[in-house]
Amino acid sequence: MEINIEKLIYGGKGIGKLYGKTCFVPFVIDGETVEVRVKKEKKNFIECELSSIIEPSPHRVKPLCKYFRYCGGCDYQHIKYEKQIEIKKEILKETLERLGKLENIDISKVIPSEKPFFYRNRVQFKVRGNQIGFYMKESNRIVNIDSCLILKEDLNESLEGLKELIEFLEFKPVEIHIYSTNLNQVLIKFIYPKRFKRFPLGLKHIKAFVNKNTVGIGIFEKNNEFLKKFISIGKQFVYEVINLEEINREIKYRVSINSFFQVNRFQVKNLVKEVLEEIKNENYKEALDLYCGVGTITLPIALYVNKVIGIEANKFAVEDGNHNKKLNSLKNVNFIKADAGKNIDILEKYNPDLVVLDPPRSGITKELLNYLNSKESIKKIVYVSCNPSTLARDLAVLSERFYIKNIKLIDMFPQTYHIESITTLEKKR
Ligand SMILES: C[S@@+](CC[C@H](N)C(=O)[O-])C[C@H]1O[C@@H](n2cnc3c(N)ncnc32)[C@H](O)[C@@H]1O
Repeated sequence: MEINIEKLIYGGKGIGKLYGKTCFVPFVIDGETVEVRVKKEKKNFIECELSSIIEPSPHRVKPLCKYFRYCGGCDYQHIKYEKQIEIKKEILKETLERLGKLENIDISKVIPSEKPFFYRNRVQFKVRGNQIGFYMKESNRIVNIDSCLILKEDLNESLEGLKELIEFLEFKPVEIHIYSTNLNQVLIKFIYPKRFKRFPLGLKHIKAFVNKNTVGIGIFEKNNEFLKKFISIGKQFVYEVINLEEINREIKYRVSINSFFQVNRFQVKNLVKEVLEEIKNENYKEALDLYCGVGTITLPIALYVNKVIGIEANKFAVEDGNHNKKLNSLKNVNFIKADAGKNIDILEKYNPDLVVLDPPRSGITKELLNYLNSKESIKKIVYVSCNPSTLARDLAVLSERFYIKNIKLIDMFPQTYHIESITTLEKKR
């Protein structure tokens, strides 16, 4: 059956019409005519598989990765990078207008990734027996890969060695996570499903197989979604550096094995710069940085405001933040361990004129939205989001008291459907 692809939607698929019903097709581009096979028909929509391309888009390219279409990691490798960005811009605008009921959305700036491949500094491999790779699309079967083109080069080197190493391990992990910083320091986590007797190898043995810059290993047990450390070998943290050229200042970060750091090694600096761009010309007295991690944005903000407080739920990240404050000789920063969405009593102790927030995909809670709308002192909010749907929901509420000054798209995740954005809001007069 032949259909025309009208547009791409959030999640990576394209949509078209088949006997009046909306159908979803992966690996297509708007404007294409394609042949599809029906996979699942529901009352209101049809899930299709792509059989062949009848009229290709001029933006179609040959995917570089041989696992593309099987592996669950990438969605857009068949699309030229410039067009990927255009699609994300359109989806972000459309989502904010449709779900957020916001009018005339203008994405005023787009920041593409300097490199659209080899950008990820972090990976979570799935393991089954001696197979290492990623889940297949919409399945928990594993694609047993020998390399991944969106990973930083040394993560691929480590994968090669891990494939040899895993054969010797009596107890096989279920996941292996690797993180390599922009200073090329590597941490590896082996994740086991339940308590096991012992991990048979030391750092020296592991290093013989994986990247030589590996400084530490953690052996973790997975209980539901929670990871509990069982054994640690070597260092349990690494360092990152961001160079703020405009003010000739380097910011250093310690990142523990349990802490978050932005995954696109080329874009983290640009993310920080774009947030600073929104605040540097005003003289803010007190800033709150909610969901602050190890202080990625908090510490640079400290260079421009009288005082900044970072709020973070992960105690390891808070410890890193406090360490990083000293590492960078910054005295006007404080990190507090709290749930930014629930511990509103803690936020109430402050009178911030600036709030920066960078929540997980779930966005922010009703309580936090209520706090932001009702706190008189807040003049500006800079909202960093990795999910357009929850951003739209939250902006709809915040637009009661704030207007949108600008929205920027920063592409943190080339080759995938994920959309990261920075929205600046100012209090209505
Ligand atoms: C998208 S990351 C952003 C971190 C930081 N802004 C950065 O750029 O590195 C989200 C952070 O929010 C933290 N987090 C998740 N839920 C939270 C909550 N309810 N309250 C406070 N922090 C939370 C996570 O531990 C993580 O560090």
